[in-house]
Amino acid sequence: MKISFHLNGERVDLAGVDPQTTLLDWLREERALTGTKEGCNEGDCGACTVMIRDDSGLRALNACILLMPQLHGRSVVTVEGLASRDGSLHPVQKAMVTHHGSQCGFCTPGIVMSLAVAHAAGEKDVDAVLAGNLCRCTGYAPIVRAAEAARAEKTPDDFLGRIAPAPVGPAEDDLTEGAAAVIDSADALADWCLAHPEGHIVGGATDLGLHVTKGLKDLGPLAFVGRCRDLKQISISGREMTFGAGVSITDMARALIPMHPDFTAMLSRFGSVQVRNAATIGGNIANGSPIGDAPPALIALGATLHLRRGAERRSMPLESFFLDYGKQDRQPGEFVEAVSIPRQTDRLACYKLSKRFDQDISAVCGCFNIHVNEGRVARARIAFGGMAGVPKRARAVEAALTGQPWNDDTIALAWTAWEEDFQPLSDMRASASYRLETARNMLIRYYLEDLGAQTRVRAVSA
Ligand SMILES: Cc1cc2nc3c(=O)[nH]c(=O)nc-3n(C[C@H](O)[C@H](O)[C@H](O)COP(=O)(O)OP(=O)(O)OC[C@H]3O[C@@H](n4cnc5c(N)ncnc54)[C@H](O)[C@@H]3O)c2cc1C
Ligand code: FES
Ligand code: FES
Repeated sequence: MKISFHLNGERVDLAGVDPQTTLLDWLREERALTGTKEGCNEGDCGACTVMIRDDSGLRALNACILLMPQLHGRSVVTVEGLASRDGSLHPVQKAMVTHHGSQCGFCTPGIVMSLAVAHAAGEKDVDAVLAGNLCRCTGYAPIVRAAEAARAEKTPDDFLGRIAPAPVGPAEDDLTEGAAAVIDSADALADWCLAHPEGHIVGGATDLGLHVTKGLKDLGPLAFVGRCRDLKQISISGREMTFGAGVSITDMARALIPMHPDFTAMLSRFGSVQVRNAATIGGNIANGSPIGDAPPALIALGATLHLRRGAERRSMPLESFFLDYGKQDRQPGEFVEAVSIPRQTDRLACYKLSKRFDQDISAVCGCFNIHVNEGRVARARIAFGGMAGVPKRARAVEAALTGQPWNDDTIALAWTAWEEDFQPLSDMRASASYRLETARNMLIRYYLEDLGAQTRVRAVSA
Protein backbone atom coordinates (compact mmCIF):
# COMPACT_ATOMS: atom_id res chain seq x y z
CA MET A 1 0.00 0.00 0.00
CA LYS A 2 1.15 3.55 -0.74
CA ILE A 3 0.66 6.35 1.77
CA SER A 4 1.81 9.97 2.16
CA PHE A 5 2.13 12.11 5.23
CA HIS A 6 4.32 14.81 6.77
CA LEU A 7 6.96 13.94 9.33
CA ASN A 8 8.48 16.85 11.23
CA GLY A 9 7.55 19.18 8.37
CA GLU A 10 8.89 17.00 5.53
CA ARG A 11 6.67 15.09 3.13
CA VAL A 12 7.08 11.31 3.25
CA ASP A 13 5.79 9.00 0.46
CA LEU A 14 5.95 5.32 1.26
CA ALA A 15 5.22 2.35 -0.97
CA GLY A 16 4.95 -1.27 0.09
CA VAL A 17 3.86 -0.38 3.62
CA ASP A 18 2.98 -3.36 5.80
CA PRO A 19 -0.37 -2.17 7.20
CA GLN A 20 0.37 -3.74 10.58
CA THR A 21 3.58 -1.75 11.17
CA THR A 22 3.20 0.65 14.05
CA LEU A 23 4.38 4.24 13.82
CA LEU A 24 6.61 3.62 16.84
CA ASP A 25 8.47 0.75 15.17
CA TRP A 26 8.78 2.65 11.90
CA LEU A 27 10.15 5.80 13.57
CA ARG A 28 12.72 3.91 15.59
CA GLU A 29 13.72 1.20 13.14
CA GLU A 30 13.37 2.86 9.74
CA ARG A 31 14.10 6.50 10.61
CA ALA A 32 16.33 6.11 13.70
CA LEU A 33 14.12 8.67 15.46
CA THR A 34 14.64 7.08 18.84
CA GLY A 35 13.41 10.04 20.89
CA THR A 36 9.98 8.40 20.79
CA LYS A 37 10.25 5.65 23.41
CA GLU A 38 8.73 2.22 23.78
CA GLY A 39 7.45 1.57 27.31
CA CYS A 40 4.38 -0.62 27.54
CA ASN A 41 3.62 -0.95 23.80
CA GLU A 42 -0.09 -1.04 24.65
CA GLY A 43 -1.24 2.56 24.97
CA ASP A 44 -0.90 2.87 28.74
CA CYS A 45 2.32 4.73 29.57
CA GLY A 46 2.56 7.58 27.02
CA ALA A 47 6.32 7.19 26.46
CA CYS A 48 5.60 6.99 22.72
CA THR A 49 3.37 10.10 22.53
CA VAL A 50 3.60 12.04 19.27
CA MET A 51 1.73 15.03 17.95
CA ILE A 52 -0.65 14.56 15.02
CA ARG A 53 -2.35 17.30 13.03
CA ASP A 54 -5.25 16.67 10.66
CA ASP A 55 -8.71 18.07 9.90
CA SER A 56 -9.71 17.49 13.55
CA GLY A 57 -6.88 19.75 14.78
CA LEU A 58 -3.78 19.05 16.82
CA ARG A 59 -3.80 15.94 19.00
CA ALA A 60 -1.52 13.79 21.13
CA LEU A 61 -1.58 10.10 20.16
CA ASN A 62 0.28 6.97 21.21
CA ALA A 63 2.60 5.88 18.39
CA CYS A 64 2.83 2.31 19.71
CA ILE A 65 -0.74 1.48 18.70
CA LEU A 66 -0.98 3.71 15.64
CA LEU A 67 -0.74 1.68 12.43
CA MET A 68 1.07 3.30 9.50
CA PRO A 69 -1.94 3.60 7.15
CA GLN A 70 -3.65 5.72 9.82
CA LEU A 71 -1.09 8.45 9.03
CA HIS A 72 -2.15 8.99 5.43
CA GLY A 73 -2.82 12.71 4.89
CA ARG A 74 -1.83 13.66 8.41
CA SER A 75 1.13 15.50 9.86
CA VAL A 76 3.26 13.87 12.54
CA VAL A 77 5.66 15.65 14.85
CA THR A 78 8.03 13.72 17.06
CA VAL A 79 10.13 15.15 19.85
CA GLU A 80 12.96 15.62 17.34
CA GLY A 81 10.78 18.09 15.41
CA LEU A 82 9.48 20.15 18.31
CA ALA A 83 12.17 22.80 18.58
CA SER A 84 12.13 25.63 16.02
CA ARG A 85 14.31 25.31 12.92
CA ASP A 86 16.78 27.80 14.42
CA GLY A 87 17.25 25.34 17.30
CA SER A 88 15.40 27.31 19.97
CA LEU A 89 13.49 25.05 22.30
CA HIS A 90 9.71 24.97 22.57
CA PRO A 91 8.53 26.75 25.78
CA VAL A 92 7.56 23.38 27.30
CA GLN A 93 11.05 21.98 26.67
CA LYS A 94 12.67 25.07 28.21
CA ALA A 95 10.43 24.89 31.28
CA MET A 96 11.13 21.16 31.77
CA VAL A 97 14.86 22.03 31.91
CA THR A 98 14.40 25.02 34.23
CA HIS A 99 12.07 23.19 36.61
CA HIS A 100 14.01 19.89 36.70
CA GLY A 101 11.16 17.92 35.15
CA SER A 102 13.34 15.00 34.12
CA GLN A 103 15.64 12.45 35.75
CA CYS A 104 16.30 9.28 33.74
CA GLY A 105 14.48 11.01 30.86
CA PHE A 106 12.69 7.96 29.54
CA CYS A 107 9.21 9.44 29.92
CA THR A 108 10.31 12.98 29.03
CA PRO A 109 9.75 13.02 25.24
CA GLY A 110 6.22 11.70 25.69
CA ILE A 111 5.48 14.17 28.48
CA VAL A 112 6.87 17.06 26.45
CA MET A 113 4.71 16.11 23.45
CA SER A 114 1.54 15.87 25.58
CA LEU A 115 2.31 19.20 27.23
CA ALA A 116 3.12 20.89 23.91
CA VAL A 117 -0.30 19.93 22.49
CA ALA A 118 -1.98 21.16 25.68
CA HIS A 119 0.09 24.37 25.51
CA ALA A 120 -1.11 25.10 21.96
CA ALA A 121 -4.73 24.51 23.05
CA GLY A 122 -4.40 26.66 26.19
CA GLU A 123 -5.42 23.61 28.26
CA LYS A 124 -4.96 24.26 31.98
CA ASP A 125 -5.86 20.94 33.63
CA VAL A 126 -2.35 19.46 33.68
CA ASP A 127 -3.44 16.39 35.69
CA ALA A 128 -5.96 15.45 33.01
CA VAL A 129 -3.46 16.15 30.22
CA LEU A 130 -0.87 13.85 31.82
CA ALA A 131 -3.20 11.04 32.93
CA GLY A 132 -1.75 8.91 30.12
CA ASN A 133 1.93 9.73 30.77
CA LEU A 134 3.71 7.77 33.47
CA CYS A 135 6.93 8.97 35.09
CA ARG A 136 8.69 6.47 37.30
CA CYS A 137 11.35 8.72 38.78
CA THR A 138 10.95 12.50 38.67
CA GLY A 139 7.60 12.69 40.42
CA TYR A 140 4.90 14.86 38.95
CA ALA A 141 5.30 18.06 40.97
CA PRO A 142 8.27 19.47 38.95
CA ILE A 143 6.59 18.40 35.70
CA VAL A 144 3.38 20.19 36.65
CA ARG A 145 5.40 23.26 37.68
CA ALA A 146 7.09 23.20 34.28
CA ALA A 147 3.72 22.98 32.51
CA GLU A 148 2.40 25.91 34.51
CA ALA A 149 5.50 28.02 33.85
CA ALA A 150 5.35 27.28 30.11
CA ARG A 151 1.77 28.55 30.00
CA ALA A 152 3.02 32.11 30.39
CA GLU A 153 5.07 31.76 27.17
CA LYS A 154 3.44 32.02 23.77
CA THR A 155 3.53 29.22 21.20
CA PRO A 156 6.34 29.91 18.69
CA ASP A 157 5.03 31.76 15.62
CA ASP A 158 6.12 29.10 13.15
CA PHE A 159 4.73 26.21 15.23
CA LEU A 160 1.43 25.41 13.48
CA GLY A 161 2.80 26.33 10.04
CA ARG A 162 5.48 23.69 10.46
CA ILE A 163 2.92 20.97 11.09
CA ALA A 164 0.24 21.58 8.47
CA PRO A 165 -1.49 18.34 7.43
CA ALA A 166 -0.18 16.79 4.22
CA PRO A 167 -2.44 17.70 1.24
CA VAL A 168 -2.63 14.30 -0.42
CA GLY A 169 -5.08 12.36 -2.55
CA PRO A 170 -6.51 8.95 -1.77
CA ALA A 171 -4.09 6.29 -0.60
CA GLU A 172 -3.39 3.69 -3.24
CA ASP A 173 -4.04 0.05 -2.58
CA ASP A 174 -1.18 -2.14 -3.53
CA LEU A 175 -2.64 -5.55 -4.15
CA THR A 176 0.66 -7.26 -3.46
CA GLU A 177 0.39 -6.11 0.17
CA GLY A 178 -2.91 -7.92 0.70
CA ALA A 179 -6.31 -6.32 1.15
CA ALA A 180 -5.62 -3.16 3.12
CA ALA A 181 -7.33 0.08 2.16
CA VAL A 182 -7.63 3.64 3.41
CA ILE A 183 -11.34 4.34 2.96
CA ASP A 184 -12.73 7.80 2.13
CA SER A 185 -16.52 7.30 2.13
CA ALA A 186 -19.24 5.15 3.69
CA ASP A 187 -20.19 3.83 0.23
CA ALA A 188 -16.61 2.69 -0.37
CA LEU A 189 -16.58 1.06 3.08
CA ALA A 190 -19.84 -0.77 2.30
CA ASP A 191 -18.27 -2.18 -0.89
CA TRP A 192 -15.07 -3.12 0.93
CA CYS A 193 -16.97 -4.92 3.70
CA LEU A 194 -18.98 -6.95 1.17
CA ALA A 195 -15.76 -7.91 -0.61
CA HIS A 196 -13.97 -8.75 2.68
CA PRO A 197 -16.57 -10.11 5.12
CA GLU A 198 -13.77 -11.64 7.18
CA GLY A 199 -11.87 -8.31 7.37
CA HIS A 200 -11.50 -5.76 10.15
CA ILE A 201 -12.42 -2.09 10.14
CA VAL A 202 -9.71 -0.03 11.85
CA GLY A 203 -11.19 2.93 13.72
CA GLY A 204 -8.62 4.21 16.22
CA ALA A 205 -6.81 0.84 16.62
CA THR A 206 -6.87 1.19 20.41
CA ASP A 207 -8.14 -2.40 20.56
CA LEU A 208 -6.82 -3.78 17.28
CA GLY A 209 -3.37 -2.27 17.85
CA LEU A 210 -2.97 -4.50 20.89
CA HIS A 211 -3.76 -7.59 18.82
CA VAL A 212 -0.69 -6.59 16.79
CA THR A 213 1.71 -5.53 19.53
CA LYS A 214 0.70 -8.02 22.25
CA GLY A 215 -1.20 -10.76 20.41
CA LEU A 216 1.33 -10.78 17.51
CA LYS A 217 -1.61 -11.60 15.24
CA ASP A 218 -2.00 -11.30 11.51
CA LEU A 219 -5.25 -9.35 11.31
CA GLY A 220 -5.99 -10.15 7.65
CA PRO A 221 -7.76 -7.60 5.44
CA LEU A 222 -7.96 -4.13 7.02
CA ALA A 223 -10.06 -1.05 6.17
CA PHE A 224 -8.73 2.16 7.71
CA VAL A 225 -11.61 4.60 8.23
CA GLY A 226 -9.83 7.53 9.92
CA ARG A 227 -10.28 9.66 6.77
CA CYS A 228 -13.88 8.62 6.13
CA ARG A 229 -15.77 11.91 6.52
CA ASP A 230 -19.20 10.24 6.36
CA LEU A 231 -18.40 8.28 9.51
CA LYS A 232 -17.03 11.34 11.32
CA GLN A 233 -20.25 13.36 11.18
CA ILE A 234 -22.03 14.56 14.31
CA SER A 235 -25.53 15.73 13.41
CA ILE A 236 -28.05 17.37 15.69
CA SER A 237 -31.68 17.47 14.58
CA GLY A 238 -34.81 18.51 16.51
CA ARG A 239 -34.86 15.64 18.98
CA GLU A 240 -31.81 13.58 18.16
CA MET A 241 -28.04 13.59 18.07
CA THR A 242 -26.36 11.16 15.69
CA PHE A 243 -22.71 10.20 15.91
CA GLY A 244 -20.98 8.56 12.96
CA ALA A 245 -19.09 5.41 13.92
CA GLY A 246 -15.75 7.12 13.25
CA VAL A 247 -16.30 9.97 15.73
CA SER A 248 -13.55 9.93 18.34
CA ILE A 249 -14.38 9.72 22.03
CA THR A 250 -12.79 13.19 22.43
CA ASP A 251 -15.14 14.74 19.85
CA MET A 252 -18.16 12.88 21.16
CA ALA A 253 -17.48 13.97 24.74
CA ARG A 254 -17.20 17.58 23.60
CA ALA A 255 -20.45 17.46 21.60
CA LEU A 256 -22.35 15.94 24.53
CA ILE A 257 -21.51 18.72 27.01
CA PRO A 258 -24.66 20.87 26.53
CA MET A 259 -27.09 17.94 26.42
CA HIS A 260 -25.66 15.19 28.61
CA PRO A 261 -22.86 16.63 30.77
CA ASP A 262 -22.70 13.58 33.04
CA PHE A 263 -21.95 11.38 30.03
CA THR A 264 -19.13 13.78 29.11
CA ALA A 265 -17.79 13.63 32.67
CA MET A 266 -17.70 9.84 32.50
CA LEU A 267 -16.00 9.88 29.09
CA SER A 268 -13.32 12.18 30.53
CA ARG A 269 -12.23 9.07 32.46
CA PHE A 270 -12.15 6.87 29.32
CA GLY A 271 -8.49 5.84 28.98
CA SER A 272 -6.28 8.90 28.64
CA VAL A 273 -6.18 11.93 26.35
CA GLN A 274 -4.16 9.94 23.81
CA VAL A 275 -6.59 6.98 23.90
CA ARG A 276 -9.70 9.20 23.63
CA ASN A 277 -8.16 11.06 20.68
CA ALA A 278 -7.77 7.78 18.76
CA ALA A 279 -10.65 5.60 19.99
CA THR A 280 -13.95 5.78 18.09
CA ILE A 281 -17.50 5.27 19.28
CA GLY A 282 -17.98 2.68 16.50
CA GLY A 283 -15.06 0.64 17.83
CA ASN A 284 -16.34 0.91 21.40
CA ILE A 285 -19.70 -0.54 20.34
CA ALA A 286 -18.56 -3.03 17.68
CA ASN A 287 -15.99 -4.73 19.90
CA GLY A 288 -18.88 -5.90 22.10
CA SER A 289 -16.82 -5.58 25.26
CA PRO A 290 -18.80 -6.08 28.48
CA ILE A 291 -16.72 -3.31 30.06
CA GLY A 292 -16.82 -0.67 27.33
CA ASP A 293 -17.80 2.65 28.89
CA ALA A 294 -20.02 4.23 26.24
CA PRO A 295 -22.58 1.43 25.72
CA PRO A 296 -24.19 1.53 29.21
CA ALA A 297 -24.72 5.31 28.97
CA LEU A 298 -26.03 5.03 25.42
CA ILE A 299 -28.43 2.22 26.41
CA ALA A 300 -29.68 4.23 29.41
CA LEU A 301 -30.38 7.08 27.00
CA GLY A 302 -32.34 4.76 24.67
CA ALA A 303 -29.80 4.84 21.83
CA THR A 304 -30.55 3.47 18.36
CA LEU A 305 -27.76 1.70 16.48
CA HIS A 306 -27.53 2.04 12.70
CA LEU A 307 -25.97 -0.84 10.77
CA ARG A 308 -25.24 -1.07 7.07
CA ARG A 309 -24.52 -3.96 4.71
CA GLY A 310 -23.99 -2.91 1.09
CA ALA A 311 -26.92 -0.60 0.28
CA GLU A 312 -29.11 -2.13 3.02
CA ARG A 313 -29.49 -0.34 6.32
CA ARG A 314 -31.19 -1.43 9.51
CA SER A 315 -31.57 0.10 12.96
CA MET A 316 -32.14 -1.41 16.37
CA PRO A 317 -32.13 -0.45 20.04
CA LEU A 318 -28.48 -0.63 21.05
CA GLU A 319 -29.13 -3.21 23.79
CA SER A 320 -30.43 -5.68 21.16
CA PHE A 321 -27.05 -5.61 19.39
CA PHE A 322 -25.26 -7.32 22.29
CA LEU A 323 -26.42 -10.95 22.10
CA ASP A 324 -23.94 -12.72 24.33
CA TYR A 325 -20.30 -12.51 25.40
CA GLY A 326 -18.29 -12.01 22.17
CA LYS A 327 -21.46 -12.26 20.02
CA GLN A 328 -23.23 -9.32 18.41
CA ASP A 329 -26.16 -9.05 16.00
CA ARG A 330 -23.96 -8.21 13.03
CA GLN A 331 -23.94 -10.10 9.72
CA PRO A 332 -20.79 -10.78 7.69
CA GLY A 333 -20.07 -7.68 5.61
CA GLU A 334 -22.17 -5.46 7.89
CA PHE A 335 -20.71 -2.51 9.76
CA VAL A 336 -21.71 0.06 12.36
CA GLU A 337 -22.52 3.29 10.55
CA ALA A 338 -23.82 5.50 13.38
CA VAL A 339 -25.57 5.69 16.72
CA SER A 340 -28.38 8.11 17.67
CA ILE A 341 -29.52 9.34 21.06
CA PRO A 342 -32.28 11.68 22.19
CA ARG A 343 -31.11 15.24 22.87
CA GLN A 344 -33.40 15.66 25.84
CA THR A 345 -33.73 13.20 28.62
CA ASP A 346 -34.77 12.91 32.22
CA ARG A 347 -31.77 12.88 34.52
CA LEU A 348 -28.84 10.84 33.22
CA ALA A 349 -26.12 9.99 35.73
CA CYS A 350 -23.10 7.81 34.91
CA TYR A 351 -20.96 6.20 37.60
CA LYS A 352 -17.68 4.56 36.62
CA LEU A 353 -15.97 2.48 39.26
CA SER A 354 -12.36 1.46 38.63
CA LYS A 355 -9.26 0.86 40.71
CA ARG A 356 -7.62 4.07 39.47
CA PHE A 357 -9.53 7.25 38.73
CA ASP A 358 -7.84 7.86 35.38
CA GLN A 359 -6.67 5.55 32.62
CA ASP A 360 -8.39 2.43 33.93
CA ILE A 361 -11.02 0.02 32.65
CA SER A 362 -14.30 -0.09 34.59
CA ALA A 363 -14.94 -2.76 37.20
CA VAL A 364 -18.57 -1.59 37.19
CA CYS A 365 -20.14 1.19 35.16
CA GLY A 366 -23.74 2.07 36.01
CA CYS A 367 -25.88 4.56 34.09
CA PHE A 368 -29.27 5.72 35.34
CA ASN A 369 -31.98 7.65 33.52
CA ILE A 370 -35.05 7.90 35.75
CA HIS A 371 -38.05 10.20 35.35
CA VAL A 372 -39.97 11.08 38.48
CA ASN A 373 -43.35 12.75 38.09
CA GLU A 374 -45.31 14.04 41.09
CA GLY A 375 -43.28 11.88 43.46
CA ARG A 376 -43.61 8.65 41.45
CA VAL A 377 -41.22 6.92 39.07
CA ALA A 378 -42.81 7.43 35.64
CA ARG A 379 -40.06 5.60 33.69
CA ALA A 380 -36.61 4.20 34.30
CA ARG A 381 -33.77 3.07 32.04
CA ILE A 382 -30.80 1.61 33.86
CA ALA A 383 -27.83 -0.07 32.16
CA PHE A 384 -24.60 -1.56 33.39
CA GLY A 385 -21.18 -2.56 32.14
CA GLY A 386 -19.07 -5.06 34.09
CA MET A 387 -22.09 -6.92 35.51
CA ALA A 388 -22.67 -9.50 32.75
CA GLY A 389 -21.08 -10.84 29.56
CA VAL A 390 -22.53 -7.88 27.66
CA PRO A 391 -23.55 -4.29 28.47
CA LYS A 392 -27.03 -4.94 29.90
CA ARG A 393 -30.21 -3.24 31.05
CA ALA A 394 -31.39 -3.79 34.63
CA ARG A 395 -34.94 -4.61 33.55
CA ALA A 396 -36.10 -6.18 36.83
CA VAL A 397 -34.85 -3.16 38.79
CA GLU A 398 -36.52 -0.81 36.31
CA ALA A 399 -39.80 -2.75 36.73
CA ALA A 400 -39.50 -2.68 40.53
CA LEU A 401 -39.15 1.12 40.47
CA THR A 402 -41.66 2.07 37.78
CA GLY A 403 -44.97 3.34 39.10
CA GLN A 404 -43.71 3.38 42.69
CA PRO A 405 -43.24 6.39 44.96
CA TRP A 406 -39.67 7.77 44.69
CA ASN A 407 -38.67 7.12 48.30
CA ASP A 408 -36.47 5.02 50.60
CA ASP A 409 -39.01 2.17 50.71
CA THR A 410 -39.03 1.74 46.95
CA ILE A 411 -35.23 1.69 46.77
CA ALA A 412 -35.24 -0.99 49.48
CA LEU A 413 -37.96 -2.99 47.68
CA ALA A 414 -35.84 -3.06 44.52
CA TRP A 415 -33.09 -4.83 46.53
CA THR A 416 -33.84 -8.39 45.38
CA ALA A 417 -34.44 -7.36 41.76
CA TRP A 418 -30.71 -6.76 41.32
CA GLU A 419 -30.05 -10.50 41.64
CA GLU A 420 -32.69 -11.24 38.98
CA ASP A 421 -30.88 -8.94 36.59
CA PHE A 422 -27.27 -9.78 37.29
CA GLN A 423 -25.11 -12.72 38.35
CA PRO A 424 -21.72 -11.01 37.90
CA LEU A 425 -18.38 -12.76 37.71
CA SER A 426 -15.44 -12.48 40.05
CA ASP A 427 -12.26 -11.50 38.23
CA MET A 428 -9.09 -9.47 38.76
CA ARG A 429 -11.06 -6.21 38.75
CA ALA A 430 -13.70 -7.08 41.35
CA SER A 431 -15.52 -9.91 43.08
CA ALA A 432 -19.13 -10.80 42.22
CA SER A 433 -20.40 -9.64 45.62
CA TYR A 434 -18.53 -6.33 45.35
CA ARG A 435 -20.03 -5.73 41.92
CA LEU A 436 -23.57 -6.44 43.11
CA GLU A 437 -23.19 -4.29 46.21
CA THR A 438 -21.71 -1.34 44.34
CA ALA A 439 -24.44 -1.54 41.69
CA ARG A 440 -27.06 -1.30 44.43
CA ASN A 441 -25.17 1.57 46.03
CA MET A 442 -25.14 3.44 42.73
CA LEU A 443 -28.95 3.49 42.73
CA ILE A 444 -28.89 4.80 46.31
CA ARG A 445 -26.42 7.46 45.23
CA TYR A 446 -28.59 8.47 42.29
CA TYR A 447 -31.57 8.73 44.63
CA LEU A 448 -29.66 10.80 47.22
CA GLU A 449 -28.27 13.10 44.54
CA ASP A 450 -31.84 13.59 43.33
CA LEU A 451 -32.72 14.75 46.84
CA GLY A 452 -29.90 17.28 46.61
CA ALA A 453 -26.99 15.45 48.26
CA GLN A 454 -23.60 16.64 47.03
CA THR A 455 -21.35 13.68 46.27
CA ARG A 456 -17.68 13.87 45.52
CA VAL A 457 -15.98 11.42 43.24
CA ARG A 458 -12.42 12.62 43.39
CA ALA A 459 -10.05 13.50 46.19
CA VAL A 460 -8.82 16.98 45.30
CA SER A 461 -5.92 18.88 46.81
CA ALA A 462 -6.82 22.03 48.67
C1 LIG B 1 -4.69 2.18 27.28
C2 LIG B 1 -6.13 1.91 26.92
C3 LIG B 1 -7.14 2.36 27.76
C4 LIG B 1 -8.47 2.11 27.45
N1 LIG B 1 -9.43 2.58 28.30
C5 LIG B 1 -10.74 2.37 28.00
C6 LIG B 1 -11.76 2.87 28.85
O1 LIG B 1 -11.49 3.54 29.87
N2 LIG B 1 -13.05 2.61 28.51
C7 LIG B 1 -13.38 1.88 27.40
O2 LIG B 1 -14.57 1.69 27.14
N3 LIG B 1 -12.43 1.39 26.58
C8 LIG B 1 -11.13 1.61 26.85
N4 LIG B 1 -10.15 1.11 26.01
C9 LIG B 1 -10.54 0.26 24.88
C10 LIG B 1 -10.68 1.00 23.53
O3 LIG B 1 -10.03 2.24 23.57
C11 LIG B 1 -12.15 1.24 23.16
O4 LIG B 1 -12.86 0.04 23.08
C12 LIG B 1 -12.28 2.02 21.84
O5 LIG B 1 -13.51 2.68 21.77
C13 LIG B 1 -12.11 1.16 20.61
O6 LIG B 1 -12.26 2.01 19.49
P1 LIG B 1 -11.23 1.99 18.29
O7 LIG B 1 -11.75 2.93 17.26
O8 LIG B 1 -9.85 2.22 18.76
O9 LIG B 1 -11.42 0.48 17.82
P2 LIG B 1 -10.49 -0.40 16.90
O10 LIG B 1 -9.37 -0.96 17.70
O11 LIG B 1 -10.15 0.32 15.67
O12 LIG B 1 -11.54 -1.57 16.56
C14 LIG B 1 -12.10 -2.38 17.60
C15 LIG B 1 -13.02 -3.45 16.97
O13 LIG B 1 -14.18 -2.82 16.42
C16 LIG B 1 -14.28 -3.07 15.02
N5 LIG B 1 -14.80 -1.85 14.41
C17 LIG B 1 -14.30 -0.59 14.50
N6 LIG B 1 -15.12 0.27 13.87
C18 LIG B 1 -16.14 -0.46 13.37
C19 LIG B 1 -17.32 -0.14 12.61
N7 LIG B 1 -17.61 1.10 12.24
N8 LIG B 1 -18.17 -1.16 12.29
C20 LIG B 1 -17.89 -2.43 12.64
N9 LIG B 1 -16.80 -2.79 13.33
C21 LIG B 1 -15.93 -1.83 13.70
C22 LIG B 1 -12.87 -3.41 14.59
O14 LIG B 1 -12.85 -4.15 13.39
C23 LIG B 1 -12.38 -4.18 15.80
O15 LIG B 1 -12.86 -5.50 15.76
C24 LIG B 1 -8.81 1.38 26.28
C25 LIG B 1 -7.79 0.94 25.41
C26 LIG B 1 -6.47 1.21 25.72
C27 LIG B 1 -5.39 0.74 24.79
S1 FES C 1 4.74 2.63 24.69
FE1 FES C 1 3.40 2.92 26.38
S2 FES C 1 1.78 4.06 25.50
FE2 FES C 1 3.02 3.56 23.83
S1 FES D 1 12.22 10.83 34.34
FE1 FES D 1 12.51 8.70 34.55
S2 FES D 1 10.57 7.89 34.02
FE2 FES D 1 10.23 9.99 34.11
